[in-house]
Amino acid sequence: IEKNFTSMDNYSVSGIIHRGGTIIRTARSEKFMSKKWRKVVYRQLRMANIDGVILIGGNGSFAGANVFTSEFDMPFIGVPKTIDNDVYGTDFSIGFDTATNTALDAIDRIRDTADSHHRLFFVEVMGRDLGFIALHCGIGAGAEAILVPEIKTNVDDIIAKLEMGWRRNKNSLIVVIAEGAVKGGAIKVAEKVKARFGHYDIRISILGHIQRGGNPSCSDRVLASRLGNEAVKAYTYGKKNVLVGIKNNKLIYTTFAKSFSEKQVINKDLLLMADELST
Ligand code: F6P
Repeated sequence: IEKNFTSMDNYSVSGIIHRGGTIIRTARSEKFMSKKWRKVVYRQLRMANIDGVILIGGNGSFAGANVFTSEFDMPFIGVPKTIDNDVYGTDFSIGFDTATNTALDAIDRIRDTADSHHRLFFVEVMGRDLGFIALHCGIGAGAEAILVPEIKTNVDDIIAKLEMGWRRNKNSLIVVIAEGAVKGGAIKVAEKVKARFGHYDIRISILGHIQRGGNPSCSDRVLASRLGNEAVKAYTYGKKNVLVGIKNNKLIYTTFAKSFSEKQVINKDLLLMADELST
C-alpha cells in the first residue's frame, strides 16, 4: 500500500534465526479491507516487477489473501505464523511453541511462590478464540484447571476441582485461563471463585505480551525453516494460493479458500486427559 519496497537476498536474513519479531515490519491494515486499496496493492506489486508473494501470517492474513487472489491474478503462498495456532491446514504455526514455552516458564516461576505461600493463582495466557496455548502450557505446568474458549466455563466445576486439591492438602493451586475463555478474563473468574472458595490466598497474573517476543524455541526454528523452504519450492513448482503446513510431521498444502472456510480445533482428548491427571 505504501509503496515501501526493500530488495532482499539470502544475506538479508542471515543472523536473524534466533530473534523474535519481524524485520520487514509488515502489519495489519484496515485499508486492505477495501477493494479500492487492494487494487492499489496489485498495481504496486506489478510496477515493482513482483510476480508472486510469500505471505507469512495468521488467520487474518490468509483471509485477506483469499479475497485478494480471487480478485487479482497473483500467486500467493502462505506460511502460517501465529502464537494462537488458529490456522487451519497445519498442526502447528510458527511461534506457538515459543509462546507456550514462555508461558510455561512463567507459570513454573509462579508455582514456586504459590507453593511457598499456600496460594491459588489465576494465570491468564493469550488465545482470543482458541485455547491452544492455555491447553498446552496448562498440561505442562500441571495446572489444577484449564479454561479455554471452546468450552463454556462453569464456576461450580472449577470450585469442585479446587476443593479436591484442597482436600488433598495441595500447597498451591493454579488455574490457567485463555484470554478468550471468559468475558473479563482471569480477573472475572478469580472474583467469582473468591466469593465461594476461601481456603487459599488468591492472586492473579496476566502474562500478556511477554508471550509474543523472545528467542524462538528450537522447534519453532526448525518449523520456520521447513515451512519457509517449502513455500519457496511451492512457488517455483507453480503452486498458487495455498498455504504450506505440517500434518503428522509431513509438509502439506491447503488452499486459502479451504483454510478460511474450516476451523482449527484443539484436541479435546488432551483437555479430558488434563482433567483426569489433575483429579
Ligand atoms: O493473534 C495473536 C494474539 O497474540 C492474540 O492472542 C492476542 O489477543 C492478540 O494477538 C494481541 O494483539 P495486539 O498485540 O494487537 O494487542
